[in-house]
Amino acid sequence: MTLDELVSYAKRYGFVFPGSEIYGGLANAWDLGPLGALLAENIKKAWFKKFVDESKYNVRLDSPIILNSRVWEASGHLSSFNDPKVDCKYCHNRERADKLVEKASNGEVDADGMKLEEIDEWIKSHDVKCPVCGKSEWTPCRTFSLMYKTSQGVVEDSQSTVYLRPETCQGIYIDFKNIQRAMRLKLPFGVGQCGKAFRNEITPGNFLFRVREFEQLEMEFFCKPGTEEEWFEYYKAFCENFLTSLGISKDNLKLYDHPKEKLAFYSKGTTDILFKFPWGFDELWGIASRTNYDLSKHMEFSGESLEYLDPETNEKYIPYVVEPSVGVGRMFLAFLLNNYEMETLENGDTREVLHIHPYLAPYKAVVLPLIKKAHSEKATEIYEMLSKEFIVSYDDTQAIGKRYRRADAIGTPYGITIDDDTLSNGTVTVRNRDTMTQDIVKVEDLKDYLRERTSF
Ligand code: GAP
Repeated sequence: MTLDELVSYAKRYGFVFPGSEIYGGLANAWDLGPLGALLAENIKKAWFKKFVDESKYNVRLDSPIILNSRVWEASGHLSSFNDPKVDCKYCHNRERADKLVEKASNGEVDADGMKLEEIDEWIKSHDVKCPVCGKSEWTPCRTFSLMYKTSQGVVEDSQSTVYLRPETCQGIYIDFKNIQRAMRLKLPFGVGQCGKAFRNEITPGNFLFRVREFEQLEMEFFCKPGTEEEWFEYYKAFCENFLTSLGISKDNLKLYDHPKEKLAFYSKGTTDILFKFPWGFDELWGIASRTNYDLSKHMEFSGESLEYLDPETNEKYIPYVVEPSVGVGRMFLAFLLNNYEMETLENGDTREVLHIHPYLAPYKAVVLPLIKKAHSEKATEIYEMLSKEFIVSYDDTQAIGKRYRRADAIGTPYGITIDDDTLSNGTVTVRNRDTMTQDIVKVEDLKDYLRERTSF
């Protein structure tokens, strides 16, 4: 599936719409439509289930988007959460300078970490052209802050400047002590959070891949210094297993270890899980071993101790952190791309089908009265029974074959047909999306049937 095909599919079936479309749109903003909202919710539910609820170590948190601005001084975001940018002097197109160099060199130059003057020099000596107007007159390379700034309160002055968080994890660090005390937690333990993050990206793009407003699923796993390597390895495997157990093919995944010499001084390692997007393998999930850097910084800036008193050894230390961090939008893309198929059937017909894991499917089943007049009443009864426990849809619009096709295309794993047999002997026909085989199921067994097949 190309990116254009994906964008069109997502719009056609109500997964993703262009943001603010009736006003001409807002660049790189997207709305999750009715099915997209369900898919995103299921991704988050799956993540919380595996990362928090099924772990005896982990708890959750929901901290705000706007935090005390000192948080961003401590984390270093106000001074260094920047990207290098250049502007075209002719058409005023703005480009992320490191990416421009990487593209112009066909990926041969890794501009990450190049100094601004080195980027300028490279752009000049290679006569890099503006991708919009074709001229090669650029402003000098400058840094550009990715932080979204706004103000809080009724007076707009520097005192009231606040920022929209560019990552959710800082909210976890600053609540470390509260969580540990209130929940009486011993190390190791993790705190998982899901929430919106905002980055004024210079070159957003590739649909939901790089946007300015996105949702992150982050886990900060606090552990005793010296055990971080073990937990880093554990979470790398855990994240990969999460994806494959939800149906992502191993062939679509790769691990990329950041080279040691490129890591920040405090980092003990970063590994990205890359997914095969239409433009090539690119970052889906980042797993970082961050030592005690973040907690130390917050101790320094807040003056509060974020140390942990080990009840077994009576030692006091600042915990180390392992952080798996992923964007909901990137997983959303990965699940659609991995599972979409334009299938050619034995009789030569084609059907669009989304072979998505039933747990993630927006609807677990569709209830289909075979003949509207004769079967609607019973079908409604069954729909009402199922919808108390599952998200199911109801479709009585066209011929049954067309209704199956639409359900296949949006990934609904089961089609439940209500016909004369339902009225006479209380059975329904359940069609499987992937195999297209059918089971006869008693109405009273339907909930068990779906529960067994849609769990994770
Ligand atoms: N706390 C660590 C952190 O935020 P990151 O690598 O900057 O690390 C983590 O971001 C994940 O968030 C990425 O792997 C990606 O899945 C997602 N992400 C980052 N920037 C994004 C953007 N502009 N649009 C969509 N997702 C993004």
